[in-house]
Amino acid sequence: MNERFCYPPASPMRVAHLELGPGILLAPMEAVTDLPFRTVCEEQGAALTFTEFLSADALTRGAAKAVSRMWPSQGGRRFAVQIFGREPEVLARAAGMAAEVGASIVDINMGCPAKKVTSGLCGSALMREPEVAVALVRAVRAALPSSIPVTVKHRVGWDDASINAPEFALRLVDAGAAMITVHGRTRAQGFSGSVRLPPIAAVRAALPRHIPVIGNGDVKTVADYQRMRADTGVDGVMIGRGAMGNPWFFRSLQALEAGQPDPGPPSLDERRAVWRRHADLVLEHSVERMHVHELRKTLAWYSRGLRGGADLRTRAGLEKRPAALLEMGESFFEGVKQAERAGAAVGTTPADPIAKSIARQERLHGGRVEADECAA
Ligand SMILES: Cc1cc2nc3c(=O)[nH]c(=O)nc-3n(C[C@H](O)[C@H](O)[C@H](O)COP(=O)(O)O)c2cc1C
Repeated sequence: MNERFCYPPASPMRVAHLELGPGILLAPMEAVTDLPFRTVCEEQGAALTFTEFLSADALTRGAAKAVSRMWPSQGGRRFAVQIFGREPEVLARAAGMAAEVGASIVDINMGCPAKKVTSGLCGSALMREPEVAVALVRAVRAALPSSIPVTVKHRVGWDDASINAPEFALRLVDAGAAMITVHGRTRAQGFSGSVRLPPIAAVRAALPRHIPVIGNGDVKTVADYQRMRADTGVDGVMIGRGAMGNPWFFRSLQALEAGQPDPGPPSLDERRAVWRRHADLVLEHSVERMHVHELRKTLAWYSRGLRGGADLRTRAGLEKRPAALLEMGESFFEGVKQAERAGAAVGTTPADPIAKSIARQERLHGGRVEADECAA
């Protein structure tokens, strides 16, 4: 291992009594971490995946859309349901619903910067009201069987003048939180600017050793992962955008933690197989009216950086039949395969999704992400 990145070898991470293996986690992402994507990431080595944040209010009102998103993972794997809200008794009831569908962990969102959430004083707004945050953790803890840990994901603070993650996290742990994830930005930053590692390290230093702390933000390469672990001492790392279209990132990190060589980017056959697995899970589990949208997304993700990918994406955008989209994907990969066999350069490194996403948001918003643009 590079001397620059010295940290203790990953021992299996425990959240209360749950043993998770090396702490390499898939972040909750609205409209992204559905059952198909979570399953694909788990199959490539993610130790735990999270649903997108679900409104406790909507869940307890029985809103079908929210309830249907508490999908258990395929193959009986562990998964976490993330909920948000502000009323302790409503969150407690929503947590009970998550337990009923088989969640292994209930995570409370205290990091979302979106105006639609913070204007209701939920998400990251709770970092300005620690006593409300504490009441939420207590209520959810009391509502769940002891076998289901309560965890929290939050930011480093509301803005530069109020970086309070260490004190905030400590209060949540005293109230019953069994794991804390810190996204290394303030609410005011949205998704722009750099992730700050010192406040994440300060949370690790502030909490009792048996409480795992997870670092999150801008980890998209093995070197980013090593830096996050080495510079903060966190017990695990949560990956969001770096996994979109690149679930093999988990495979590389698992190999690293096992002391094995990095298997590197996927071969063309692996890309094709995982694209097809993802697409089949979409057809099996997503609601029918979303099939075309979701299949186009899989094609866009897995063709990124490959010869002819841009053309495929244009054609897929015009196609409205799921079967034809599958056919389009198959013949695309077949064509790339043939080009590869003929010795042409076909490209195999997925493009950098974070750089692209930040660049797009900066183009739109002049460097600052509008809160409504980002879910958390
Ligand atoms: C499209 C999208 C949706 C997100 N939705 C959620 C969410 O539902 N809950 C949450 O806690 N964070 C959410 N986030 C924030 C991520 O979990 C993560 O904290 C953030 O993207 C930084 O990590 P990354 O740089 O690895 O992506 C979302 C981020 C994105 C890009």
